[in-house]
Amino acid sequence: MLLKDFLIAKGTEKKLAELILFLGEQAREVKKGFLATVKTGNAGEKTRNIYGEEQMALDKYSDGVFISGLKKARLVRFIATEEQDRIIEINNPKNNFGIVIDPLDGSSLIDVNLCVGTIIGIYPGHVLDAGRNMIAALYILYGPLTTLTLTTGKGVHEFVMDGNGEFVLRQENIKIPEGKIYAPGALRKDYLPAHARWIESLEAAGYKLRFSGSFVADVHQILHKGGVFTYPGFKGKEKGKLRLLFEANPMGKIIHEAGGMISNGKADILGITPQAINDRTPIYIGGKKEITQIETFMCEP
Ligand code: AHG
Ligand code: MN
Ligand code: MN
Repeated sequence: MLLKDFLIAKGTEKKLAELILFLGEQAREVKKGFLATVKTGNAGEKTRNIYGEEQMALDKYSDGVFISGLKKARLVRFIATEEQDRIIEINNPKNNFGIVIDPLDGSSLIDVNLCVGTIIGIYPGHVLDAGRNMIAALYILYGPLTTLTLTTGKGVHEFVMDGNGEFVLRQENIKIPEGKIYAPGALRKDYLPAHARWIESLEAAGYKLRFSGSFVADVHQILHKGGVFTYPGFKGKEKGKLRLLFEANPMGKIIHEAGGMISNGKADILGITPQAINDRTPIYIGGKKEITQIETFMCEP
């Protein structure tokens, strides 16, 4: 079944369905751009974004595809992306949606041809809103297959891009299974005490380490195989590295819908109202068992 037919069959609100389909088309453009950028030899050309991180040519390219497409289509009122330092408000929008986008996640892996993705969250209005108020979240993975994983609050569903660039249903109602994979970000020497104790307990319980450097790909693996991803707060950077709006919330919404949890170690991230678009947060995301465990470890003195 095609994504557009699936959205109709599930009774998705018309304007939201139109936006989701449009985002799928933009992802197809992003994917086309990979080859073009690599051909012109620009893929590794670097600048810096507002977080002081290296920006690859493809980060900027992907950001441009989504922003210019959304400006032209006027399907949302507010756009916030990881590569921009302020919220964009569209003139004369058709809808009041607000959208948050990490146009390319895992971009440090582009030059070595590992899996990267686009992460998107959709709000009914302004984007400085708690994650739990999101009406839809999705991510597109550019791997051996191009897949789109989506929730509109009624389960998590996965689509695969076919030879015509159309997204076709691959798996409906995905639930996170029990599993023993852990994907730990940051340096062990900088771990805070409770986090270090929890990691040791996972290792003692036989969890297998799998960390690629692409959050979206690592969490996708956890969604299908179970376990936990973490990019914790650490010495000198107690708020961690990853961003509340662009990374934590949309992926958290999807994992939550799949029966898992997301936490900053102390509380559900989806309940936090952001102060600014560039807020960062420690992230623990995955199975209920593992997230409940870290929250217990964090409570202990
Ligand atoms: P982005 O490519 O959007 O800047 O995000 C990179 C993130 C995330 O994808 C990944 O989990 C993490 O950075 C990896 O960081 P380290 O290089 O510190 O492992
Ligand atoms: Mn990212
Ligand atoms: Mn990014």
